[in-house]
Amino acid sequence: MSVFPQGFLWGGALAANQSEGAYREGGKGLTTVDMIPHGANRLAVKVGKEKRFALREDEFYPSHEAIDFYHRYKEDIALMAEMGFTVFRTSIAWSRLYPNGDEPLPNQEGIAFYRAVFEECRKYNIEPLVTLCHFDVPMHLVTEYGSWRNRKMVDFFARYARTCFEEFNGLVKYWLTFNEINIMLHSPFSGAGLVFEEGENEDQVKYQAAHHELVASALATKIAHEVNAENQVGCMLAGGNFYPYSCKPEDVWMALEKDRENLFFIDVQARGSYPAYSARVFREKGVTIVKDPGDDELLKNTVDFVSFSYYASRCASADMNANNTSAANIVKSLRNPHIEVSAWGWGIDPLGLRITMNMMYDRYQKPLFLVENGLGAKDEFDANGEINDDYRISYLREHIRAMGDAIEDGVPLIGYTSWGCIDLVAASTGEMSKRYGFVYVDRDDAGNGSLDRIRKKSFWWYKKVIASNGADL
Ligand code: BG6
Repeated sequence: MSVFPQGFLWGGALAANQSEGAYREGGKGLTTVDMIPHGANRLAVKVGKEKRFALREDEFYPSHEAIDFYHRYKEDIALMAEMGFTVFRTSIAWSRLYPNGDEPLPNQEGIAFYRAVFEECRKYNIEPLVTLCHFDVPMHLVTEYGSWRNRKMVDFFARYARTCFEEFNGLVKYWLTFNEINIMLHSPFSGAGLVFEEGENEDQVKYQAAHHELVASALATKIAHEVNAENQVGCMLAGGNFYPYSCKPEDVWMALEKDRENLFFIDVQARGSYPAYSARVFREKGVTIVKDPGDDELLKNTVDFVSFSYYASRCASADMNANNTSAANIVKSLRNPHIEVSAWGWGIDPLGLRITMNMMYDRYQKPLFLVENGLGAKDEFDANGEINDDYRISYLREHIRAMGDAIEDGVPLIGYTSWGCIDLVAASTGEMSKRYGFVYVDRDDAGNGSLDRIRKKSFWWYKKVIASNGADL
């Protein structure tokens, strides 16, 4: 017997900038992610310390070709259909529709491409779940306007969002406004196209940009509902609760503060106003949010559901600089001695997913959608030319079980899209060798390979999971 409800959506997720490639085809403009090379300089650009906005001959930019989904989407969607997907999450590259971001009219070639992708999904009864902005801000908006620090971004984004809702009306019903909106605090350039001036209060810039994104998200939600009352719009959190490192009250307090830092965004998007605690946080950080008169009213356009990614839980103590930090999806965390970590140091904690889901439902009382989860791992071919990725199966199995437990706890969950269902470029490192997929893509970290798609053992396993509605794990 399955604990998953009838009609539960099963599938996988990709993002435009990590899969499409074709970075200048079809009239597409450059985006922030197109400027981020693989290798030693990746981080430098990400934190904006090096304002190098010209592409260089001596760098390799993994997003430029990525896995060539732009030309291979039919083959890729057919593979998803073969696994039995009922949902496919991807994103629209803003710069395919508005190459510079500030044009009055959209680029028809971009619209035609996404219409073809969504029609292909519909052919197989796959529900598209579409993110409007998955980290890739058009570069022109960064250089001309300073990206989300500028209020004008709200209008540019609203125009782009309206175009999407109108053009893909009837093809797409589930929308997400900003991918992992809280990541802008932790990785401001890749998260929101923010670059800082020497000596400025970075918190001021980040939270003002956050305000603009939150207003833009609420406005997009309003427009989505006006265009079609059936549209369902979600926010998206880089999730994973902070555990206190010990039961010392100061550690418990720090864990609460760290959770609030991330949940702040969802508190606004799901409840429609700034949370009470934000006033003190802003005061302490010297932040003053400049609002337009209608903003508080606009923010009342709350989301229909709350989506999130979950890779790892996090850990906090009174001393967050303690010498045992661990990578947990870019968000700084202490290494939890009670859990294993992946080869990239990300904690593996299925019970943490159940904890996170329960907390989120307790807090928001809105349906949840788990739109990213998975294990980044190196895959090797065995002597028979196969990839027996039992480690990935085991990770996913335990997390699906935890999801089932949360459903039994009473948490309504709309669906599950595991991350990188077809191998793609890793966001944090730019590697191809950090693989998440059920389908292997023949491409290495330097961009060599045939791009052929090869089914892994997990492909057959996930097909069985979906066919049994999560009963046969
Ligand atoms: C999330 C992002 O942060 O985690 C994805 O939404 C990203 O874009 C994923 O790919 C996994 O991170 P990474 O760095 O392993 O690709």
